[in-house]
Amino acid sequence: MFPQHRGRRLRKNETVRRMVRQTALLPDDFIYPLFVTTGKGVKKEISSMPGCYQESVDQAVLNAKEAYSLGIPSIILFGIPDKKDDLGTSGYDDNGVVQTAIKAIKDAVPELYVITDVCMCEYTSHGHCGFIEKGDVSNDKTLPLLSLEALSHARAGADMVAPSDMMDGRVAAIRATLDREGFGELPIMAYSAKYASAFYGPFRDAAESTPQFGDRRSYQMDPANRREALRETALDIEEGADIVMVKPALSYLDIISDIKSSFAIPVAAYNVSGEYSLVKAGEKLGWVDGERVMMEMLLSIKRAGADLILTYFAKDAAKVLNR
Ligand code: PBG
Repeated sequence: MFPQHRGRRLRKNETVRRMVRQTALLPDDFIYPLFVTTGKGVKKEISSMPGCYQESVDQAVLNAKEAYSLGIPSIILFGIPDKKDDLGTSGYDDNGVVQTAIKAIKDAVPELYVITDVCMCEYTSHGHCGFIEKGDVSNDKTLPLLSLEALSHARAGADMVAPSDMMDGRVAAIRATLDREGFGELPIMAYSAKYASAFYGPFRDAAESTPQFGDRRSYQMDPANRREALRETALDIEEGADIVMVKPALSYLDIISDIKSSFAIPVAAYNVSGEYSLVKAGEKLGWVDGERVMMEMLLSIKRAGADLILTYFAKDAAKVLNR
């Protein structure tokens, strides 16, 4: 009660603020996404995501090296193949773009932890996250394709696989395949509470994965639902997920917090493309201080309960933290 209590006493100067600070961001928290494409010497900036690129394997290696040298322990790879078809076969081709990138990056920077996004949408001609039957994604026919993709990433040397498709039962299917094929120690990070979000817009430009018809609302979660996230997460944990993820992050901090307090498992949050692009756009217009907004956003995601943050800001934020 005032005047005995004066909150301002412990806000007086930066030293005392540092002493009582309850959340600290570290480069260790970040997972940096890369978009890998075919060719050589390709580095094409994504117009809606300034500072992010579609890049060929040789360039991705340089980018990965730089990230690691800034103290970022991990990257997550997305592939942009030359050819797309109905079954997304380029996604589980052992010589595919992601598989080639994994090998090259692990060769060049063996300590860097390489995670792969496991989904069909970057590889299918229709842009959906699975096998299409009667105008919708067939859940059960998609599971074997996802398992093949995860296995192919494992064989190429991935350190962890991350299914982002939101099919029911995919964690169990992938776990069983990996175990059977000798990859029992390869962890799975499941996109457990992944919402059908407008914040993915710029990513779909980057990965050229916009659905050619319909939308993803028959498999990704309804943004209105909070308790459903706990159920989805509990199921993924039962199926063998080692890390669970909430996506997007900023409009879903309540979900991150719920999951963190309900389960004793590491929680990741995906600070998605739209969240990144809005800051970059605001900064370009001179309307916000981009660096401060970036750091405040990332801090809020950590404060809400995320142990790991997938973010396009990873290198920018690590540079700030390393100063
Ligand atoms: C693939 C996938 C998407 C993202 C990550 N994995 C797109 C989607 O579901 O449409 C989005 C990432 C971002 O927006 O940064 N399914």
